[in-house]
Amino acid sequence: MRVAIETMAVIGAGQMGSGIAQVAAQAGLKVILADASPELARKAHDKLGASLAKLVEKGKLQAADREAILGRIRPAASLDDCAPADLAIEAIVENLQVKAEVFKKLDALLRPEALLASNTSSISITALAATTRRPGQFIGMHFMNPPPVMALIEVIRGLQTSDATYAAITELARKFGKTVVTSRDVPGFIVNRILIPLINEACFALQEGLASAADIDTGVKLGLNHPMGPLTLADFIGLDTCLSIAEVLHRELGEDKYRPAALLRTYVAAGWLGRKTGRGFYQYQGR
Ligand code: CAA
Ligand code: NAD
Repeated sequence: MRVAIETMAVIGAGQMGSGIAQVAAQAGLKVILADASPELARKAHDKLGASLAKLVEKGKLQAADREAILGRIRPAASLDDCAPADLAIEAIVENLQVKAEVFKKLDALLRPEALLASNTSSISITALAATTRRPGQFIGMHFMNPPPVMALIEVIRGLQTSDATYAAITELARKFGKTVVTSRDVPGFIVNRILIPLINEACFALQEGLASAADIDTGVKLGLNHPMGPLTLADFIGLDTCLSIAEVLHRELGEDKYRPAALLRTYVAAGWLGRKTGRGFYQYQGR
């Protein structure tokens, strides 16, 4: 059975969840935005308001459209508020156990025909789906950072994802104005299978003293025409997220070439997570 997706719950109101909420609300969907506490959901809503205000200032968005988009996004007081959703997409920390806990609760909460999706960067969709009683209605919907700007959504079918779920989610991604690529459920899928080894190699290069962080980044940015150098991009993604993905690739693919650089581990251990904590490979002020 095909579900009409009019109301979408987004769980995790960090950089990805907030951006996904914006994309969905811009496409006319009602969005319920949930986080670990109501304060975090409210703060994310305020931050979205400020970010959309900048677009209005730049003349890229009408003030009335900003109001309408914000009005369609409701910060949740608790996960229970997600119950009316036709689709719930999870964008919380990149950890299988923590995600599984949330999916168990969503599975109990949402009506039986509702769909579940994960924005995971690397974790098995099949394994996450198996923690619910609706594996056929479970899928990977992987937005790129920042979701409102990036043109791609990677769709990942788990072993039991139904054709109807795949059709509904690819159709939704196109309604969001995105291009879809479809990946098999293999660690890292397409994009992170290729990106994370690049970032990890840049960490090894820095660790070995090959060049400064700035020169490694400039080399890749100008030499390969990438919008950001790999260390800048790692800070942008979050070093904790990069490390979690690298660990999944290493553990699940079992090859030494995927082992995370010690420098990456050290930075994460120090709490240097990149832009979101004000320090990673670089320092950030006024974030
Ligand atoms: N909503 C709508 N538009 C927005 C926006 C928002 N929230 N935020 C910014 N924009 C718009 C800006 O208005 C601007 O538009 P114009 O070009 O028309 O002026 C455009 O987006 C670019 O914004 P900025 O000028 O502020 O910034 P920039 O030119 O320096 O670009 C960037 C920023 C898009 C992030 C660019 O540096 C870039 O593409 N970096 C690489 C990003 C990337 O690789 N992402 C993928 C990461 S991997 C991943 O996501 C997967 C994973 O699992 C880890
Ligand atoms: P983030 O740290 O910015 O945000 C995570 C949010 O989840 C936080 O607001 C946190 O409070 C919330 N959260 C944590 N545990 C929760 C729980 N049990 N219940 C409800 N909320 C909870 O992280 P992010 O960068 O937005 O990444 C989120 C997910 O998206 C991860 O799976 C990540 O791999 C994936 N992803 C990240 C990027 C990226 O570039 N950062 C790109 C694509 C996909």
